[in-house]
Amino acid sequence: LSKLPLRGKKVLITAGPTFESIDPVRFIGNHSSGKMGFELAETASNLGANVILISGPTNEKLKSKSIQLKLITSSDQMFEEVVNKYRSADVVIMSAAVADFKPKSISNKKLKKSNQNLSIEVEKTKDILSHLGKTKTNQLLIGFALETDNEIENAKSKLINKNLDLIILNSLNDKGAGFGFDTNKVSIISKENKIINFPLKHKKDVSLDMINNIIELINE
Ligand code: CTP
Repeated sequence: LSKLPLRGKKVLITAGPTFESIDPVRFIGNHSSGKMGFELAETASNLGANVILISGPTNEKLKSKSIQLKLITSSDQMFEEVVNKYRSADVVIMSAAVADFKPKSISNKKLKKSNQNLSIEVEKTKDILSHLGKTKTNQLLIGFALETDNEIENAKSKLINKNLDLIILNSLNDKGAGFGFDTNKVSIISKENKIINFPLKHKKDVSLDMINNIIELINE
């Protein structure tokens, strides 16, 4: 048991979408299922880590009893929770699909469809990952990028701009990969510009590839 590579490490993982309220019954959201983040949490926990999983709305269930799960709904709530737990974390993996925009104000009454030309004013949500990058002390910080064109270049600039240690590139051009699927196809890019391209795999196996890469960084 003492051989578990993540023993004694605190790993903070985010998963799922965030929902940004428009009115009491509607929201802006996305199709993230939470599967990737939940697999990452299980894998890290099986390798001995002390895991805190912060997730938006999802149907996923945890198998491991030792993972601490905190459910949130909005990007603001996710920001609060993540920032609260950040200082004491050794590794942070931001796999949540945090909404980029939220309504500027939330109507406390249900919007009526008699509103002929309804438009909803939106503003940017807080970029949690950027904030973590700016306030980083000793944590290893891992982010995700979902790109359609200039994938590697865009992912690399995200890695640098957000002060990350690794970035996981999800291509939207790959069939069977990404939102909702049980499989995913990723490339892992490091600060030193090492790029590893993985084939399409079950998200459980993808999570092991990612965690193994993180363990390498810890042991450097
Ligand atoms: N992310 C975050 N907070 C947000 C939006 C995104 O922490 N408000 C994190 C995601 O968890 C992911 C990473 O940022 O790890 C990548 O997000 P993405 O939406 O691909 O990139 P953006 O920086 O939003 O850039 P762009 O929309 O230009 O691609």
